[in-house]
Amino acid sequence: MDALPLSAAIAKLQQHKDQQTWSLRDLFAANPDRAQVFSAEAAGIYLDYSKNLLSTETLQQLLSYTDTAELKSSIQALLSGSPINNTEHRPALHTALRFQGAPQTEHEQAVADCRVQMQNFVEQVHSGAWTGFNGKRIRHVVNIGIGGSDLGPRMVCEALRPWHKQDLSVHFVANIDGADLSDTIASLPADETLFVVASKSFSTLETRQNALSARQWVLDAGCAESDLAKHFVAVSSNIVAAQDFGIAAQNIFPMWDWVGGRYSLWSAIGLPIALACGFDAYSELLKGANAMDTHFAEADFAQNLPVLMALIHFWYRQCWGAGSLAVLPYAQRLAKFPAWLQQLDMESLGKSVTRDAQPLPYPSGSVIWGAEGSNGQHSFHQLLHQGTDMIPADFVAIKQPTSELAEQHQWLLACCLSQSQALLKGKSLAQARKELEASGHTHKEVHQLAPHKVIPGNRPSNTLIVDKLDPFHLGSLLALYEHKVFTFGCLLDINPFDQWGVELGKVLGNAVHDAIEGEIPEDWDGSTAHLLKLLLK
Ligand code: F6P
Repeated sequence: MDALPLSAAIAKLQQHKDQQTWSLRDLFAANPDRAQVFSAEAAGIYLDYSKNLLSTETLQQLLSYTDTAELKSSIQALLSGSPINNTEHRPALHTALRFQGAPQTEHEQAVADCRVQMQNFVEQVHSGAWTGFNGKRIRHVVNIGIGGSDLGPRMVCEALRPWHKQDLSVHFVANIDGADLSDTIASLPADETLFVVASKSFSTLETRQNALSARQWVLDAGCAESDLAKHFVAVSSNIVAAQDFGIAAQNIFPMWDWVGGRYSLWSAIGLPIALACGFDAYSELLKGANAMDTHFAEADFAQNLPVLMALIHFWYRQCWGAGSLAVLPYAQRLAKFPAWLQQLDMESLGKSVTRDAQPLPYPSGSVIWGAEGSNGQHSFHQLLHQGTDMIPADFVAIKQPTSELAEQHQWLLACCLSQSQALLKGKSLAQARKELEASGHTHKEVHQLAPHKVIPGNRPSNTLIVDKLDPFHLGSLLALYEHKVFTFGCLLDINPFDQWGVELGKVLGNAVHDAIEGEIPEDWDGSTAHLLKLLLK
């Protein structure tokens, strides 16, 4: 696709933005039904996008932009398995990982076979039939993986804590910092611990080093080499490398090059989820994601949750200069959600050329950040309310209580709604003055203090209401963001499925490691050479 029509359409959107003053208060005052008009619902998730700086005309322009960007055909290409990852000549078929019913394609058949392998394995571990080197049942699982081979399963396991099996605990190790592995295994009995080495490529530095150290730990605990298979399984598309590492062929769960790492929690990379919560819960997670896939594929764009969210984000990114987006899940168990979303969004959308390798004439991905509410309110929300940048926010509220402390859940919801309300309303200078005067401040004090108390308001947000934090709805929520990110990539005309920038860091990492053990090359920049000398002193 030629980026010119896109640039022209963005310029038109910019004009639309610049031609008027935007006031959320006025927009609500002008239309009492705004919340009903600017909302949509699918697969157990309700999206209220009425607190955004947009009008019906804005929405129409954004929707017509989807024609310019040929979004429909891109969605079709994604779902039908066309090689849309054009720099690696691969499809991106994560939706096939959550197919329901009887398998219809070769890919779905491979997924179905993998599910059977996973289910058998999970049952063996849960029943105690799978034992460690001295005959004891497995009580601890440690997933060793990083990026997409860590963040998704880690986040889902934490989110679904009430589903956890009582006599099996699941842990995650990712960092090359040895403290991660050693702190995790410090209190674990090696003879009751099983490691899942999760690496699509089986060549990732962190995962290989941690797996080697874990292997040594199990051997040091008295396990014979011939019994290592009882303590190590792998998930990988590189069967040869996994076998070379010493993992028995029957203990390797497949991955495929048509699944991107950051989209892989639905594959056997989700094994820790099935182990922690049971295969039924894992299946429900897939079902929820599939329900959102169907919505994404079939719903009109004006009612399509991922498309609407992508268009709104695109509007702020292109026309309002918003360089970041805050994601605020009001659920303690979703504390890892922003980290998972960071990889999904920033690894996908951090690009500078179009699909056809032309320099992008407009900005690409944003900084995604956030934390669980209400904790964030007492740290970074100040910047959202009174900082100089406008930072759009996604609030995620869970309708049903996530604990037995139902009264606290009401407070949690109150916190969530009041924050988006405060961002919308703000506090005017007149209001600030009035409050200070009413509390008895002198004229001089009112004059000095009032400007500090002004809160601009007019700051946009979405609110997602998820019915329940259960496997089905979590699956639906995660698939919603996956499709939002994909749609955003289509609106930019970029390939959201490669990550060449990350690869450079990996190559240079090896070179620096070589220099630590050998000589510092003469052609290095002065700073890196100097720092390394300091570190080695
Ligand atoms: O960080 C880059 C990356 O390639 C991610 O895309 C991926 O999820 C992660 O590394 C882990 O890769 P692997 O599963 O191959 O170990």
